[in-house]
Amino acid sequence: MGKTSSPEIKNVEYGLEKIFTEAKDFLPLLGTDYVEFYVGNAKQAAYYYQTAFGFQPLAYAGLETGMRDRTSYVVAQDKIKLVFTSALHSDSPIGEHAKKHGDGVKVIALWVDDARSAFEETTERGAIPYMEPTVEKDEYGGTVRSGIHTYGDTVHVFVERKNYNGPFLPGYKEWKPDYNPPPVGLKFIDHMVGNVQLGQMVVWAKWYEVVMGFANFLTFDDKQIHTKWSALMSKVMANNNGRIKFPINEPAQGKKKSQIEEYLDFYEGPGVQHIAVATDDIIKTVRALRARGVEFLSRPPQAYYDEIPQRLGAHKDSFKEDIQSLQELSILVDADEDGYLLQVFTKPQEDRPTLFFEIIQRMGAKGFGIGNFKALFESIEHEQELRGTLER
Ligand code: FE2
Repeated sequence: MGKTSSPEIKNVEYGLEKIFTEAKDFLPLLGTDYVEFYVGNAKQAAYYYQTAFGFQPLAYAGLETGMRDRTSYVVAQDKIKLVFTSALHSDSPIGEHAKKHGDGVKVIALWVDDARSAFEETTERGAIPYMEPTVEKDEYGGTVRSGIHTYGDTVHVFVERKNYNGPFLPGYKEWKPDYNPPPVGLKFIDHMVGNVQLGQMVVWAKWYEVVMGFANFLTFDDKQIHTKWSALMSKVMANNNGRIKFPINEPAQGKKKSQIEEYLDFYEGPGVQHIAVATDDIIKTVRALRARGVEFLSRPPQAYYDEIPQRLGAHKDSFKEDIQSLQELSILVDADEDGYLLQVFTKPQEDRPTLFFEIIQRMGAKGFGIGNFKALFESIEHEQELRGTLER
């Protein structure tokens, strides 16, 4: 996996400036392009994300657009684009993926200026090809896409769309249903987290460094991330402009089964654990999501909210939110040297306890809420207990 001549992974001190100088620029990434889920029923999944999360209908591909093997619905909210795809026949890699993993993320697509160069640079460094550079055209122009495999059955697709002005990609037509619930204020993808098996975190962190030119932004070990029962380790990898952040988790030794092991058991391998989406007004966004039926993890105890002023430290005076509203909505607060952040986690959004969403509002803070990990993981363990998956 990758060439062995690359430098060893270093724990870069906290600070984006260092990331910018450490990360290589052979793979300039403009941002996340889209996230594609392989699901059992794309029509109903799209309806759920419209209804519950306020995503807006954008594009459709299926039998009516000349697609013979699949149906895809594309929904969008501000800069976030989600694609839900399901198979039309039993003999299909899409169906096989859904059978093995349940509904989950297949493609993390990255927006690039040059999809051919992205493919060459990454495969030259050891990435396994998923899609050779492919030109697709329709009346709105043309795109180039290419792709590589990452952890598990997940892939990265590089999307070059500078010569395209259609609704989504060639082959898709605009989707304009009469049903349009309003958005809830979700803006962009802040980070996407992958779960890998014990011992594989360093391997995949190194893969992102060597193959994609990412740098290690933060590392959390099991001494920092643990509860009475379980532990995990995490390395946050970031690209050189900081727009793409991929934390990689692995389980650590604990008395009971960790949430990462539970995920790996039910997803039947590594995969995307959560998608963190940013909002400018978390109280408003979470109120709307709850009203539409999105379920969140249980509220931390009173003591957690009593300790918020201490947790804020130097940022106590700039803190504007009403603690009572945060408590009512189970929103968590953490601070680092640059500011504070507000975050909350949904329950898994599928029948299997696999992928969930995080809603995050950054008020200067660049971290991931380490001060909340204990409260968060205790809430998750409570859910695991209800599912009977905390015991080994
Ligand atoms: Fe997160």
